[in-house]
This record gives sequence, structure tokens and C-alpha cells, in this order.
Amino acid sequence: MSLTSTESTLAILGGSPAAPQDIVKPWPPIDDTDRQMVLDSLNGTNHAFGPNCQAFSKEMAEWNGNKHAIFTNSGTAALHMGLVGCGVGAGDHVIVTGYSWSSSATCIIHHNAIPIFVDIDFDTINIDVDKIEAAITPKTKAIVAVHLHGLAINMEKLMEIANKHNLKVIEDACQSHGAEYKGKKVGTMGHCGALSFNQNKSLCAGEGGMFLTNDEEILAGASSLWSFGETRTPSEDRDFHAYALGWMYRANDLTAAFGRAQLKKLTGYIETERSNADALRAVLEGTHGLIMPTEPENHLHTYYNFSIRIDMDAIGWTGEPTRMRDALLKAMAAEGAHPVVWQRFILPSMTVFQAKNAYGKGSPWAEHDALDVDYNPANFPVSQHHSDTHFAIIMPLRAPNGPEVAQVMGQGIRKVFENIEKIDPDQILDEK
Ligand SMILES: Cc1ncc(COP(=O)(O)O)c(C=O)c1O
Repeated sequence: MSLTSTESTLAILGGSPAAPQDIVKPWPPIDDTDRQMVLDSLNGTNHAFGPNCQAFSKEMAEWNGNKHAIFTNSGTAALHMGLVGCGVGAGDHVIVTGYSWSSSATCIIHHNAIPIFVDIDFDTINIDVDKIEAAITPKTKAIVAVHLHGLAINMEKLMEIANKHNLKVIEDACQSHGAEYKGKKVGTMGHCGALSFNQNKSLCAGEGGMFLTNDEEILAGASSLWSFGETRTPSEDRDFHAYALGWMYRANDLTAAFGRAQLKKLTGYIETERSNADALRAVLEGTHGLIMPTEPENHLHTYYNFSIRIDMDAIGWTGEPTRMRDALLKAMAAEGAHPVVWQRFILPSMTVFQAKNAYGKGSPWAEHDALDVDYNPANFPVSQHHSDTHFAIIMPLRAPNGPEVAQVMGQGIRKVFENIEKIDPDQILDEK
């Protein structure tokens, strides 16, 4: 079937879009289970650390295969709890990827420790495990192992290095609920882990997080930080004594009720993400100029974020990569393909690290002899290259959207790349 001229003309140049408007349904799907459970919580009497909080922690631990879980008010809180549970203290070095959400690294500064960045592996977009050992110093205490975009790190290799150097591993699984390595779920392979339940996550409770561990000692340290430095939980007979420095990282019953309702559907959501990713990949495979995400052997990718890279060499672009990427992004958006740039900044380039000043007076770097730690973005070239050349399809791959939506998104992207010679960044980006 041949396309009419407006169908084949790029929408950004006046043609008709590939995808109909409003085809992508919003996330997360809400049904009567959600409504009833939230209403039951509202009709209850304990709106703080109520019965749903304990039940959610227990059910999440069971779903993930952990002995213990603590419901928190964010994934960042759960990461901070993990560092403290693992005994990380002021001035310790903690290794983390150069490309992630800011709080994968700022959680380290929350405890006055020093983030040490390691560049990513281009294929997996996760920390380059082969570069970790070179970053270890006598001060290194732990690794924040971020499983980015729904793909687990090769945890066999990472744990081998951690064990060899006596390092603790906090798994940042905030984006990767249900992702597996060799049949094991993320959050079960390190010493502890963190999940996030914010709006965009594969389990959305509005906001919130979950601390996960199998280790009683780590649990005790983490739970002390969670609730004012106390040693007893709100469901026990509290003495309201601050035994250690604590925060208020507890979450509430209404959020837990919503989280519990969504947890009943989480396995199905992940299956949908995976089958929609297959449908998108099938349309895009072989498109000149695109590098598809990989799912290495022994991994189960959830495709929380379907991250595509533009091969600038293949398309013959020698200018600023972000300029071409952003022009293509506008052209794909005009087709109705819903592309997003997930992260424009690599972690070392963020101002908090460049300034080396979190608490004033250069703290925590100045007082821990860490002002010469390497945050020069030029030393993280793979992270930078990925950041500059990627775009992602996220929400269209989520339930209740099915493969037909993924296919239409793919057609919009394909149309742009098949007409790439018509993309002029100067015209598209500088247009008033
Ligand atoms: C990789 C990663 N780590 C940590 C977080 C922090 O989670 P939260 O927003 O629940 O604090 C997020 C998401 O925001 C994330 O994507």
C-alpha cells in the first residue's frame, strides 16, 4: 500500500501524524480493587503507620523474595536507610554509576559519605562492572548498584568484586521491580535494596518506597534511621528515645492501601511492559540510525524505560549530538510517538557534585580530604555519549496500553528516521 503525500510527509513539516491523538492511556490503571482498598483505609482509624503499612511490607517482601521489608515515604529514603544499615559513615567512599537519577548518588551525601562515580557500559546502560575495581580505595565501603531502566546488573560479577574487597552492596532497584538476573529478582542479590513507588514507577502508589533485606543486623540499622533513631517500630511499645540519628521516613496507611492494590497487578504489569516492548522492537528493528536496548542472556528486562540511542555516525551527523537528537525528538513528538529524554545530565556534571558543597563550607568533601575526587564529566565519556544520544519510550508501553499502541509509536519513530534527510535542526529547533 502506498502512502498518500500527507501521510508520508513528516508531521513537523505539515503532514499528518502517524499516531492518532489521545491514543496513549494514562498510567496507572485504576480499578475497583484500588478504590475499595483506599476507601477501607480511609474508613479505618489509623492513618499513619496503620495496618496496610505492615501488610504492604510483608506482601512486598513475599513478592520479591526477601525476608524483610520496610515501607518508606520514598525510594531515596530506602537507599539512605540501606547505606546506614550497611555501616557506611562520614568520609567513606561509596561507588555508584555515572548515569542515573540524582538520588542514587545524593543518598550517599545524605550520610556524609563521598560518591565515587564509575562510567557506564554502553550496551546495558548500567555501571561498567569491569571498571569498578580501579575505583576502589582503602576508604571504599560500599557500592550503590543501580539496576537502571528495568535491566539488572550482572550481579554475579559485581558481588564477586564486592566480596573480594569486603564491600557492602545496596541495590537501587527503584526503576526495576521484577527485573531478574539468573532467575533472582533485583533487591535479593546484594546486602539490601530499595524500590520506589512514585508516579512513573512500575508500581505506582503516588509516592513511597520499600527497603528490602535478608539481614537482621542491616534491618536494625535501617529501621533506626527510618523512625527518629528509635529501636522500636510504631506498632511496638515505643519509648520515644533517639538512640541514633534518625529521620522520619515512614509512610502512611492510605498510600500503603493503594500500593497493596497495585501490587496485586504488578506481575501482570511487567508482562505487559515486556510484550509491548517486543511489539515496539518488531516495528523498529532494522531502522537505520537506531540502536535498540539489549536484554543480555540470563537477564529478564522489564523495559520500565525503553531506551533507544541514535547512531550519529550512521546517520552522518557530525554536529552537536544533542542538537540532532532534540530535533528528531520534536519530529517524533509531532508524529504522536511520545518520545522523552530521560536524563540530560550525567551525575558527575550535576551542580551539587561540581560545587562539592552539600552542607556548606565544602561539606562533606572538605573535611574528609576528598576535594580531589574526580567529578570531571570528560572522564565519564560513555555516560555522556548515552545521555546525549538517547531518547526513550516509557508511558505508551505501560498497561492498559497494548501492543497496538506500541506498534503505532514505532511507526511514528520509523517514519522520522526513514525521512531523516529532511530533518534540519536549525530549522526545527530555532523556529519561532
Ligand atoms: C534509579 C532511581 N533511584 C532512586 C530513585 C528515587 O526514588 P524516589 O523518587 O521514590 O525517592 C529513582 C526515582 O525517582 C530512580 O529512578
